[in-house]
Amino acid sequence: MNNTKTLTSLAKAMPKTELHLHIEGTFEPDQMFALAQRNNVQLKYKTVDELKAAYQFTNLQDFLDLYYQGMSVLLKEADFYDLTMAYLEKVHSENVIHVEIFFDPQGHLSRGVDFETQIHGIHKALRDAESKWGMTSRLIMSFLRHLSEESAFETLEIAKPFLHLIDGIGLDSSEVGHPPEKFTNVFKACRDLGLKVTAHAGEEGPPEYVWQALDTIKVDRIDHGNRALEDENLITEIKKRELTLTVCPLSNLKLCVVDDMQDHPIRKMLTLGLKATVNSDDPAYFGGYMNDNYVALIEKTQITKEELFQLAKNGIECSWMDDSAKQAHLKSLDSLFLA
Ligand code: HPA
Ligand code: ZN
Repeated sequence: MNNTKTLTSLAKAMPKTELHLHIEGTFEPDQMFALAQRNNVQLKYKTVDELKAAYQFTNLQDFLDLYYQGMSVLLKEADFYDLTMAYLEKVHSENVIHVEIFFDPQGHLSRGVDFETQIHGIHKALRDAESKWGMTSRLIMSFLRHLSEESAFETLEIAKPFLHLIDGIGLDSSEVGHPPEKFTNVFKACRDLGLKVTAHAGEEGPPEYVWQALDTIKVDRIDHGNRALEDENLITEIKKRELTLTVCPLSNLKLCVVDDMQDHPIRKMLTLGLKATVNSDDPAYFGGYMNDNYVALIEKTQITKEELFQLAKNGIECSWMDDSAKQAHLKSLDSLFLA
């Protein structure tokens, strides 16, 4: 077998974690149309092909415009369950053993869908995946950064009866013009409640936004973080704080964060000693799930077996799963790579 084939089969077989995944970004067009019909919602696109043809983005905002339209078909608990379960089935078949999922409650509350409907649908699917396959999970409630801090505070109040189902808080949506410092107070309130915190930073926004994620939000990890590489002092600080970067290769390509997969900085991140991980972000929109992201790196960059191993290891070590589960998965990863 040539090297690409060997690495591809290793990537597919290895136990993987997904640490950066928006559940609303897993909407496959077929399922979106089926739910639109079930709920009598009119989509802007008439056919699946017409919708797919719209998946050409030049930046984050292009994508977000479509993403918010897509989620408009989610109305009932069963819709959130079905969406989540379809994603979990898919990644279970790809040897993903642990997922950390974002959801965007404000994107649904604004359409009159209550919090309980959303979280119960998602949570029941996560619970079923654990009982069926032993797949573990964490749930991250994300604030939409194009909205105000006041709106984030209101969302936190609404979420309070459900905090036993929520492990962490994230910050997503349109980055440029909405720096992390806009949300300093609400993230402090979240940390005081014992929640972990993470934020999208340095996807399109400048290194200054990543500094703010560190110093004002006091993140436990950084989502994307690509533009942190522009600032040497920032790289040093991220390493000092041992923060993970949840990197999303196919997303970066689709949203023009990188021009060519060949130039993706993930290998450079590893060389610099940063804890990079591989994730899919919004797989239904960006052309692939976990294995596709690894395959793209294998086929387009000169990634080595050691780097592949390091990425998978980072994914387990840097996740928010229990230590005993981490040890068990690291052991099976070791035996696969050292066989
Ligand atoms: N970036 C910011 N916000 C998002 C994304 C993303 O890639 N996906 C869904 N919301
Ligand atoms: Zn994201």
